[in-house]
Formats: sequence, C-alpha cells, structure tokens
Amino acid sequence: MTTEEKYMYRCLELAARGAGYVMPNPMVGAVLVHNHTIIGEGWHKKFGEPHAEVNCLASVKEVDKPKIPESVLYVSLEPCAHYGKTPPCAPLIVKEKIPKVVIGHPDPFQKVNGAGLAILKEAGTEVICGVLEKECRRLNRRFLTFHTRHRPYIILKWAQTVNGKIAAHADERLIISNELTNRLVHKWRSEEASILVGTHTAQLDNPQLTTRLWKGPHPIRLALDKELELSPALQLFNQTAPTIVFNFHHHELETENTALKLPPRNFYYRITADVNIVHQIIHALYHLHIQSVLVEGGARTIQSFIEEGLWDEARVITNTRMKAEKGLAAPELTNHELKNEFCLRQDLIRIFKSKENPFL
Ligand SMILES: NC(=O)c1ccc[n+]([C@@H]2O[C@H](COP(=O)([O-])OP(=O)(O)OC[C@H]3O[C@@H](n4cnc5c(N)ncnc54)[C@H](OP(=O)(O)O)[C@@H]3O)[C@@H](O)[C@H]2O)c1
Repeated sequence: MTTEEKYMYRCLELAARGAGYVMPNPMVGAVLVHNHTIIGEGWHKKFGEPHAEVNCLASVKEVDKPKIPESVLYVSLEPCAHYGKTPPCAPLIVKEKIPKVVIGHPDPFQKVNGAGLAILKEAGTEVICGVLEKECRRLNRRFLTFHTRHRPYIILKWAQTVNGKIAAHADERLIISNELTNRLVHKWRSEEASILVGTHTAQLDNPQLTTRLWKGPHPIRLALDKELELSPALQLFNQTAPTIVFNFHHHELETENTALKLPPRNFYYRITADVNIVHQIIHALYHLHIQSVLVEGGARTIQSFIEEGLWDEARVITNTRMKAEKGLAAPELTNHELKNEFCLRQDLIRIFKSKENPFL
C-alpha cells in the first residue's frame, strides 16, 4: 500500500461515519498530514453542516497551525467550488496555502464537476486525483448513481428459507431471520433515504419500516397501494416517519417538497395504469431528490424491479436451517454477480451486484 493510499483509507473510514446523515450530499473524509504525522482530521457529519475539509482544518491544534502551509491534504472527493449551505472548500484550501492536495475522485455534481480542481490548479496547488478512486466511488455509489444515471440507487432485500421461500403461504408472514440479522437490517435502513414495500406486504406483515433496532434516521417509507385499499390503522401510517403512498387516485406531494422537507406524516403520489409502475416510482423518487431506496418486498414487487433491470445491489438473507415445504418463492436475480458473503449465526447473508452497476 502506498503512503497516499494509507491516508486515503483513513479518509474513507472518516467519511463512512456520515452514512445516513449527509444525504443528499456525498460522504467525505479529509486528513491533513505534516511530515508523516496526521495533524487534522474531519468528515462531513450532517447535511447542511460544514464539509470534511472545513472540519479537518478546524481540528488542527493551535500549536500545529503554522504547519498547515507545509502539509498535504487528503480528501476522498473533489473539494467543492460553489456556495451551497456552506462556503466553498477549494478557495479555503488556497487561502490556507496548503501546497498539495490528494483527491479520491472528481465530483460529478453539476455545480462542482472539475471546478474545484481548477481553482486549486490555478492557484498553483499540486493536485493528485484518483487515489483509491474505485473505493471512494463505491462509498458514494448512491450519490454517483443519482447524479450520473438520474435515478436513485436501488437495493433489493429479502430473507428466504434454505429452499428459497420467502413466506410459508402467500398470505402468511414467516419469521426467517434471527435477531442479529434484524439489527443489521435496521442499520441498512438507516443508511438509505427510502424504503419500499408492495401492497400485500404492507397489509399482511404490517411492518413499521423504521430503524428502531439501530441508532440512525428513519428512511422515508414508500408503499404501493394502487386502489388505496390499505387500512389506515397499519403501522406504516403511524406518522413516526413520512410515508408516501403510490396510488391511482390521489396526489398530495409537490416536487419542490424535496425529501429533506417532508414532515413525519402521510403523502399521496398519483401514478397511472398506462406506464410501468416501477419506472413511475423511480422517476418520482428522482424528482423528489430521494437518493436511494431499499426494496423490502414482497416477491412480486422485488421481481418487478429485477424484470426492469432497475436494481444495483441485492442483499439476500438465507436461514440455512429453515425449510418450508410450501410457500411463496423468493425473487430470482438475473445479470448478477456475488460480491460478498458472511454469516450471522444460521443466517447466510449474500450481497450481489447487478452487472449494470459500475460502482460496487
Ligand atoms: N421474507 C421476506 O424477506 C419478505 C419480505 C416482504 C414480504 N414477504 C412476504 O411476501 C408476501 C407478500 O409478497 P407478494 O409478492 O404477495 O406481495 P407484494 O410484492 O408485497 O405486493 C404485491 C402487490 O403489489 C402490487 N404490485 C407490486 N409490484 C407491482 C407492479 N410492478 N405493478 C403493479 N402492481 C404491483 C400488486 O397489487 P395488485 O394485486 O393490487 O395488482 C401486487 O399484487 C407476504 O407473505 C410477506 O410476508 C417476505
């Protein structure tokens, strides 16, 4: 591993602490190194709050401040060049007279897109871009998918028995995964902007779709209920988080009401029978600035995403000790590749990537 890679890995570790809190911004980490010693570290902690570079510089001790103009700044994403919620970072780096900046990958966001690099280079800063580029892009795969493919990042998730059933009968809930896995699933939920279930799952399982077993924000809950048949008594509608109901009849959600502004209550988004429903949902999420979606079932809903080739990652939990003779068959992935697998007690967790996904 090169020295540059070593410090970039540290940037990635720091950046990942922002998971779930910084969306729709990317996760970013920064490290300031003077003569092989880290004198400052920072990460983007929360949307609307200072960026990683600002937090990194603010963490430098008074005694180390004179060393800033002799240090190297490592940052996992190109520093920004525009005024957003906070002042731009590239001019700050120039003002602090940092002579060298090592960057993970360029920012495709329209308002940055090379402009940060240009500010640094024009000021005579030495810039190295592309260190651990693949790993940096992987961390920000939601942000990159949103800005380059103009759709949210889509994760499919289900639990199945060892013989591939997700429910014992079509209308019966089967508890498949163990409590450790359930906790992991709540962590996964806290990392995504939204979570979707189909009509039958909403009605039969009555899920809360919250992160109550983990510390982190609740995703926006999404339910497909074309005919508005779901009972208002379902936990989905308990107003602990915003819930958007995709339906054929009623609309009460404007696109300027972006994800960030949604209060914890129920909203309605009208779709039509004339256009593929998966495409309509994905289109709506893009326009609502919802950067990612975890599709948690059931089989029909997940299979619809697979059929449209609209998925990036699938997380499949298999209880290796449970068998159900009859039941609802699990979805079938196509065009996929196994990326990782591990066990939590008897649960085997496999992470697949779609071959269409360039970031995982
Ligand atoms: N093991 C797990 O991980 C897991 C997770 C979730 C659910 N489940 C189980 O799965 C079962 C429910 O699965 P399911 O497949 O029956 O139901 P589902 O996917 O939850 O809901 C299916 C319904 O949603 C609508 N729908 C979904 N995709 C659609 C599309 N592309 N176009 C139009 N309508 C669409 C349809 O409504 P209409 O019928 O009105 O057309 C369809 O009948 C339950 O038993 C639940 O316990 C298991």
